[in-house]
Amino acid sequence: MNHFINIRDISSSILRKIIMDAKKRKNKRKKINTLDQDKDKPLKGKLLIQMFEKSSLRTRLSFTIAIKQLSGDELTLRPNELHLSKGTESLPDTAKIISTFGNAFMLRTDNDKKINEFKKYMTIPIINGLSPSSHPTQVLSDIYTIEEIKKKPISMLNICWVGDANNNVINSLIEASVKFSFKLKIACPKKYEPNKNLLNWVKKHKGKVKIFNDIKKAAEKSDVIFTDKVISMNDKVNRLRKLKDFKNFQINSKVMNFAKSDAIFLHCLPRGPEVSDKVFFGKQSKVWQQALNRIYVQKSILLYCFGKLR
Ligand code: CP
Ligand code: NVA
Repeated sequence: MNHFINIRDISSSILRKIIMDAKKRKNKRKKINTLDQDKDKPLKGKLLIQMFEKSSLRTRLSFTIAIKQLSGDELTLRPNELHLSKGTESLPDTAKIISTFGNAFMLRTDNDKKINEFKKYMTIPIINGLSPSSHPTQVLSDIYTIEEIKKKPISMLNICWVGDANNNVINSLIEASVKFSFKLKIACPKKYEPNKNLLNWVKKHKGKVKIFNDIKKAAEKSDVIFTDKVISMNDKVNRLRKLKDFKNFQINSKVMNFAKSDAIFLHCLPRGPEVSDKVFFGKQSKVWQQALNRIYVQKSILLYCFGKLR
């Protein structure tokens, strides 16, 4: 049994194995229906229980389809219908019951500590489907998408992030840059630079992360330009002030032109004003492929959690 909580806790070889498995499984699914099951039916009879304390479209769809393609099924709990949310049942008892009825638990939470609390009391794998500090399933899938499009290992590419550098997605991307050994240049306003502890961890592991307050310097010669929402779901900030702080950090055609001519644009979605419509709907944007690939990577993450990765 394996948990999938943070990229930094998982070895590079396992992360690579998940990506390889996703590629093999996706290749075998040409011209079949969304709900057709993979021939080997690896998770037959298994139940994934999901719980979203925050909104979700892509993560929910992709995990639901993923477990079904693996021949299992899912059940999504609404937190507001649980005794837990009303304070009339404890987290340990809730965790025990979920473990008794289900075979894996996917949690999107507004509190990182809750993941560890659930983990402590559960006897089934737990997957972090986004927390305030990390979004590991998203980032692993994004690495898959980049390699699928660029047909090269990500370690041979220059990755650039423009935007809030202290949120869940960039934290996981920074962790991934160490695990997959790729160059990551970040452009953000001074006030929104990455978490210092995370940067110390990068330094200790000889990571290749560079931070700029100037978009051009970060975007130059990049193969991939990434961004994310300026205001994240768990942000407790003055929205207008934060949007203003980022007004010079929008990804538009000028920024894309700093990058290589065949650079691609990625965004985990949902989006805000951090990208222009021209770039978002332009030919360099691969956001729809990026979103759909989450199904394939979730499948291999699930197989890893069940100890069934080939
Ligand atoms: N990218 C992502 O996680 O999307 P959702 O919030 O819709 O799940
Ligand atoms: N950083 C964003 C990611 C959404 C998938 C948020 O937390 O809202």
